[in-house]
Amino acid sequence: MDKIRRFSWNNVQGKVLQSYEDLSEPDSEFYPQLKTGFKLYHGAYLPQEGFSAHCNPKTGSFMDYKACLACIQEKHVGPCAIIGQPGSGKTIMMKRLAKQLIIANNLQSDEPSRWKKLRQVFRNEARQYDVVLHMNIRDIPNQDNVTLANVIFSPRVTKLSAHELGYGLKAILDGEVKIIMFFDGLDQATWDPICDTRIESWEISSTPTIFGNILAGNLLPNVPIIISSREHSVARLSREMRPEFIAALVGFSEDEAEKMYCELMGLNAKKDWHEMKISNPAMHYMCLTPLFLVFYMITRKRSPSHPPNCASGVMVTIIQIFLECENTRNLDDNVDVHEVISKLKAMAFNGTMNQKVTFTKDDLSEYDLEYKVISDIIIKVPGQTFLGQKILAGMYEYFFCHQTLQEVLAALFVVGMRLDEFKQIVDHEFQKPYWAIVRNFTSGILKNESVKANIGFQILKQG
Ligand SMILES: Nc1ncnc2c1ncn2[C@@H]1O[C@H](COP(=O)(O)OP(=O)(O)OP(=O)(O)O)[C@@H](O)[C@H]1O
Ligand SMILES: [Mg+2]
Repeated sequence: MDKIRRFSWNNVQGKVLQSYEDLSEPDSEFYPQLKTGFKLYHGAYLPQEGFSAHCNPKTGSFMDYKACLACIQEKHVGPCAIIGQPGSGKTIMMKRLAKQLIIANNLQSDEPSRWKKLRQVFRNEARQYDVVLHMNIRDIPNQDNVTLANVIFSPRVTKLSAHELGYGLKAILDGEVKIIMFFDGLDQATWDPICDTRIESWEISSTPTIFGNILAGNLLPNVPIIISSREHSVARLSREMRPEFIAALVGFSEDEAEKMYCELMGLNAKKDWHEMKISNPAMHYMCLTPLFLVFYMITRKRSPSHPPNCASGVMVTIIQIFLECENTRNLDDNVDVHEVISKLKAMAFNGTMNQKVTFTKDDLSEYDLEYKVISDIIIKVPGQTFLGQKILAGMYEYFFCHQTLQEVLAALFVVGMRLDEFKQIVDHEFQKPYWAIVRNFTSGILKNESVKANIGFQILKQG
């Protein structure tokens, strides 16, 4: 269990921003709003509108984080879900909740005195758990002939031995160890949960069936489990797997977004923010989505007098920032940057088509991409930013460091298609929910003259 504690503690680390040139980690913590009590399965949130903090103001009611945590820990049949649009802050929230519980329960050995204040805030949550598990669902491979222990403790990333897996599961089932489990990103799984047969805790089965049985409450019925996901993956779960309690992240309040903007953008920020609100209300509205606010701030820092005026413009600039490093590096003469971008665009597009966000070595070679080449060209932007880490991340399997980047590259691929192919995609694919973001970016790129005029866009288009 110590290994799991260490693994989860490492998993929940990470800053929300890290430093991008002069955009540094905020001192304060900002919280998007949470809503519950809406009818997800009756279309209240569907069809997905795309990259926005969209939410019908008439449905559901706001709740605070502590109340949400309390609801999560109540007895439910099967797991609870945190849902939200892309970049709405699900991953950050799952990490924060898990981290707060780890600290409240004194389960980490790092500098305990630093966490005194937090422990005070979460005193009701103290001494409830021996282990807080935090796992990214994309790290759970799709396998046949596995057990429940393999799925929840994914040995590929936790490095637990077969003996440790068995011991850990037995301790949980016997009630010797009290555990709470966070599984982030159901929409990023390369498999769909299924629950067509009821299975027992020690039965050998496949990852989708085991996870489906967890969702249905057939497995680990006494363990509080929280999954996070974009809406479409939860909305399409069959009845028996649907979570009883769902909370949705619905974007920053106007005040919270303004506070974050002002803290990070410094001088004149308040004035700029209010000007933008009046001159470009659509952009202001988009900035209520945490990820988009961050992207907007980055592009605005870069070009204070001519910031992009639409979402696609912001995203094209963001990708351009990724690619810029090519100018600052001594590239191998054999590497053609445009060719690599072109292959990445194709991979991003086909990935979205197959609802795939994780790519293996085989996928890279299918597109004739070598990890080393990608690392050489695209990986490092100056500064230690979450953007700068990698466009593709992961040691053995690769994924776009944020799914939105895959979606912009896919949109750039669509924009470059022949007319008949384009028509085929628009007519037969774009209405499916997982294309929502690509669809928005595609229309933004096609319709907005200022995006087309952007030099970065011209480079990306050629690629
Ligand atoms: N509470 C927050 N405070 C400040 N920034 C935030 C917050 N939540 C999210 N962000 C910013 O938005 C980015 C995206 O957030 P996050 O990865 O949590 O979104 P997500 O909902 O998990 O997206 P996806 O659906 O693509 O998985 C973060 O890297 C961070 O920069
Ligand atoms: Mg996420």
